[in-house]
Amino acid sequence: VDENTPPETLKSRTLEAVAEYIKDGRARRIVVMTGAGISTSAGIPDFRSPDTGLYANLARLDLPYAEAVFDIGYFRKNPLPFYTLAQELYPGNYRPTITHSFINLLHQKGLLLKLFTQNIDCLEREASVPGDKIVEAHGSFARQSCIECKTPYPQDLMKKAIAEKTVPTCIQETCDGLVKPEIVFFGEQLPADFFENRSLPSEADLCIVMGTSLSVHPFASLPMMCSQGTPRVLINSEQVGDMGSRADDVLLIQDCDAGVRSLAKACGWLEELEGLWAQT
Ligand code: APR
Repeated sequence: VDENTPPETLKSRTLEAVAEYIKDGRARRIVVMTGAGISTSAGIPDFRSPDTGLYANLARLDLPYAEAVFDIGYFRKNPLPFYTLAQELYPGNYRPTITHSFINLLHQKGLLLKLFTQNIDCLEREASVPGDKIVEAHGSFARQSCIECKTPYPQDLMKKAIAEKTVPTCIQETCDGLVKPEIVFFGEQLPADFFENRSLPSEADLCIVMGTSLSVHPFASLPMMCSQGTPRVLINSEQVGDMGSRADDVLLIQDCDAGVRSLAKACGWLEELEGLWAQT
């Protein structure tokens, strides 16, 4: 579709038209899909941004290739690069961004059907988005277990290992397996929660994609699950995936914190949003 094709559901392919659609009460079930770009302003690097991204800065770990740090096969052979990185990524040292608070605001207004996130920083929870509204598609640091016998590993021992940059091994006497946070590594299955909810975007009446390159499947296929006629809004520094290919796609190619502030302002929610964020 080219930009001359008129949208079906929105008046135009603009932020104002999206705000009008929301204010008219036509967006009751919003799905949000996010990636590392919504946490960069919290101080957590994303993965693929050219200079600041994690993958451009892992040279010091002398990996065969950047994504090896999250590869289960490589981890089995050499878990140290991951545990070196884990200390920097471990939740607890970062504050949610206003983008996280915007998602909580949608929930507070009863408009959030589901948030699908690829992030492992747990900032959505810290921004008070309820756990049952979040699908952590790539897992998180919330739990850890032995990669061989799956025995759970105590949180306090994990925190100690992360702080000391030591590699924790299984608590079972008979097993010497490596312990790994339940983050989905390349080569591992996504959690059941993802597959149980992956068709939900087809029930949404608005989809908002923020801060992701949509380069990792199966997560990247989620926006395509939206029905025709469901407006899909991209708030991202660059155009990604198939966003923009449909008549009702709205592309806000900009910083996500600025984008959510503009959308909140257009909806008459900016003060409420700033207030929510101030409480994080
Ligand atoms: N505002 C808007 N967009 C931003 C911002 C920002 N402040 N910062 C970064 N971005 C954009 C980048 O331009 C890029 O398109 O966010 C996207 C981040 O993409 P990635 O770094 O690839 O992160 P993500 O999409 O979450 O990666 C997916 O890859 O390595 C795996 O499992 C890992 O979950 C991760 C997955």
